[in-house]
Amino acid sequence: MTNSISNLRISYETDGLRRRELAADPFSQFGLWLQQAIDSGGILESNAMTLATATEDGFPSARTVLLKEFNEAGFVFFTNYDSQKAHELAENPHAALLFHWGELHRQVRLVGTVAKVSVAESEAYFHSRPLGSQLGAWASRQSEVIANRDVLAAELARVTELYQGQTIPLPLHWGGYRLSPKTVEFWQGRPDRLHDRFRYSRQANNSWLIERLSP
Ligand SMILES: Cc1cc2nc3c(=O)[nH]c(=O)nc-3n(C[C@H](O)[C@H](O)[C@H](O)COP(=O)(O)O)c2cc1C
Repeated sequence: MTNSISNLRISYETDGLRRRELAADPFSQFGLWLQQAIDSGGILESNAMTLATATEDGFPSARTVLLKEFNEAGFVFFTNYDSQKAHELAENPHAALLFHWGELHRQVRLVGTVAKVSVAESEAYFHSRPLGSQLGAWASRQSEVIANRDVLAAELARVTELYQGQTIPLPLHWGGYRLSPKTVEFWQGRPDRLHDRFRYSRQANNSWLIERLSP
């Protein structure tokens, strides 16, 4: 079993990514690729991304979160403001995001700085979620150790009763973060591991320098 994974490989026979076809800014290029990932129909959660954070003294951690919005201001996800990731972001706002759309032989890497979105933005998104998810946000103390699942069930029953027939308020411990990228790299798999890589780097005047990287 362990031997066989060393033989797992596929050849990326995909069409290349060409410099002349790249959008001038990474947000437009990302939008194009995300839409192609969604339209391909073969990717379960095209908006799932790995979020990597690190403590102040450099211990990294990574987990999957869902991209809920992006534009020139940055890339937004929602979570618990008392979670491990939130503690790490409070200590160290530098973070990375990674999308891997394996079926398209594509990867996008972003590095930047993260800040909380406004309460109004969190409020608007929170209330667009299904009621069960809104109650779940109240019931879970994300990343804390709990004795068993009954703890969650009891908390869910409590908040369900508490907010019966009311608009469920946005918990103070829940909301969005926005990563404003400083670099964004687009990777397209090619045959013989000679992939195409282009990195957009934000310049002082907010324009983007585009460079090809060796695979
Ligand atoms: C596909 C997928 C999507 C997820 N989306 C989110 C999300 O949008 N927000 C979130 O807080 N956790 C999300 N999670 C759970 C996180 O990966 C993680 O378990 C949780 O946020 C706690 O992380 P932390 O302890 O590092 O703070 C998702 C997990 C998966 C597998």
